[in-house]
Amino acid sequence: MLFPNSAPTGIEQADLPASAQSLVTKLSPIFRGNSFRAISVDGRRAIIDYEANALDFNRSYFVRNYVKCLAIARLSNLCFPAPAGSACDFGSGLGPFSLAMAGVFPSLRFSLYDQSVAQIGLVKSYQRTGHLPSSFSAETKRMPFTNQPDCTLRLFSYFFCENPIIYDDKEELLTAIGQNALIVDYPEVMDSISSICKASGYEVTSISKIELPLGPSLRRIIGQDSIKVSGGAFRNGS
Ligand SMILES: C[S@@+](CC[C@H](N)C(=O)[O-])C[C@H]1O[C@@H](n2cnc3c(N)ncnc32)[C@H](O)[C@@H]1O
Repeated sequence: MLFPNSAPTGIEQADLPASAQSLVTKLSPIFRGNSFRAISVDGRRAIIDYEANALDFNRSYFVRNYVKCLAIARLSNLCFPAPAGSACDFGSGLGPFSLAMAGVFPSLRFSLYDQSVAQIGLVKSYQRTGHLPSSFSAETKRMPFTNQPDCTLRLFSYFFCENPIIYDDKEELLTAIGQNALIVDYPEVMDSISSICKASGYEVTSISKIELPLGPSLRRIIGQDSIKVSGGAFRNGS
């Protein structure tokens, strides 16, 4: 099922919650150089050394990924009744998905997990400077892990593209996704995840390559007039 035709008509920097504004502003002057790019290995995209290049990655991708996550967060508001409890953000990086969700679902608590010590270190240092909410908890963990935390909603932004071993295996994928998940990823990754989930009884609400216009200040920061978003909401119907 496609999201209803109520996709945001555009996102402007002024639409962002205060915590996101400050982080976007903090990261954006260097982002403009767009000096850091993902490389591809074995035809798979986005293989990056997150330890050595933790800050460079976020200067290049944080604002862009944040805007994509915000689009999915807003659209998910249409198909998830206001979730309460906690959201787990797996492969969180600096937490663009949690930050976007926190603006749309203020009553959710967020737990950020990433295998990269450097990324989790950045989360904690931006919390200390007030650029990220101090209420987020952040921990270094590598997925898949046993004893998955109990959470209402699981968030994954550009996690699965780096973990084909998880999304190529139905059991691993469904264990990772749990009852309710929101995912932002490349279209081909979304297609694969969606078809496995649909066949397994999940209710899937997704968009593919939707072109979202950006307001003037985000246009300047991101260096594009619009941004393409693919992602979706997954609910276990059984
Ligand atoms: C492409 S980045 C995306 C970061 C962030 N979610 C975003 O949208 O900007 C992928 C992140 O997932 C983390 N990651 C990849 N595989 C992981 C795994 N198996 N367990 C935990 N973290 C993982 C990486 O360290 C990296 O920070």
